[in-house]
Amino acid sequence: MNVVSVVGARPQFVKLAAVADAFRGTGHEHRIVHTGQHYDGAMSDALFDGLGIPAPDVHLGIGSGGHGAQTGAMLAALEDVLLAGERPDWVLVYGDTNSTLAAALSAVKLHIPVAHLEAGLRSFNRVMPEEHNRVLTDHAADLLLAPTEIAAANLANEGLAARTAVVGDVMADIVLRTRDAVADRPLEAGLREGEYLVATVHRAENTDDPARLAAVVDALAALPLPVLLPVHPRLRDRAAAHGIALDRGALRPTGPLPYAATVRAVLGSRGVVTDSGGLQKEVFLLGRPCTTLRGETEWPETLAHGWNVLCPDPAELGKVAVRALPAPVPGHPYGDGHAANTVVRTLEARA
Ligand code: UD1
Repeated sequence: MNVVSVVGARPQFVKLAAVADAFRGTGHEHRIVHTGQHYDGAMSDALFDGLGIPAPDVHLGIGSGGHGAQTGAMLAALEDVLLAGERPDWVLVYGDTNSTLAAALSAVKLHIPVAHLEAGLRSFNRVMPEEHNRVLTDHAADLLLAPTEIAAANLANEGLAARTAVVGDVMADIVLRTRDAVADRPLEAGLREGEYLVATVHRAENTDDPARLAAVVDALAALPLPVLLPVHPRLRDRAAAHGIALDRGALRPTGPLPYAATVRAVLGSRGVVTDSGGLQKEVFLLGRPCTTLRGETEWPETLAHGWNVLCPDPAELGKVAVRALPAPVPGHPYGDGHAANTVVRTLEARA
């Protein structure tokens, strides 16, 4: 079997790490195409190196741009890549970024089978670019690899049950493996075990409106514990453009962290405040309380017992961000840590 994985943004590299590892030693050919959507060393190379992902076979170097320009440039470039050389049995696309949609569209128009990893997630918020990308990719793809039963039910509601397979969550594979490897590492300088929070902010809905971004940053800066803030390039750029300082009050800004350092920082923390999708779930799997700076989540399993609390109003953050540990949740809603092997077996069975 000949599979082409297309990735471009940081959360996709984490998922790719699990999949690339599962392909190792299978005898299948697995090629990696990087669109270049994320290009900073800390957003891309550090993840490939840190997670032991093989270097991309093709790097398109597309970079930033508006949604149309970025997605369109990827679409044109990917068509050339997919037409060159041996025809893939599968194009595998990941998550919900512009790289995901471009790759799915490019492959489907060439009649190359497309599998969507992390299919069926829905925020039901039609303003989010990620929601456009998810819905359109699911309807274009031939095989929908759903991480959870709830995701599969979302797909069934849209008439896509026949193309769906529940495989578990490949990010769980990586986070559980990394947790076991980093427990003994020292914390970031100046932080004490259990006495700080971690925060990340990068969604367009939180960063692009200056008043909203100022309210979010003010609320984080006013929290009663130090807040480690790994700064995403979008946050860095928007904060600078609007004159919003990130180094004040409780905030301890730092550059984007390598994956293992992120896991270590979460493990050592009292809790996490974020608008990231993937991080909400990682925090849940690492057993720390999460507060989500949005009105909805694509990972509703994390809400059980209050492990994750939705906090769309930054003025409410001070009341919920520091809270006691909830009761444990029974079972493993995100799979047993071997989802990537199930992905490979499912692709084999349906090739
Ligand atoms: C993208 C995804 C989002 C995902 C996120 C993870 C889309 C629509 N959004 O958002 O779903 O959660 O990645 O990080 O695909 N930039 C840099 N260096 C980089 C990358 C980006 O400086 O390596 C800056 C650029 O100024 C760019 C901005 O960040 O304009 C936004 O980047 P973009 O890739 O458009 O979206 P993200 O906000 O990263």
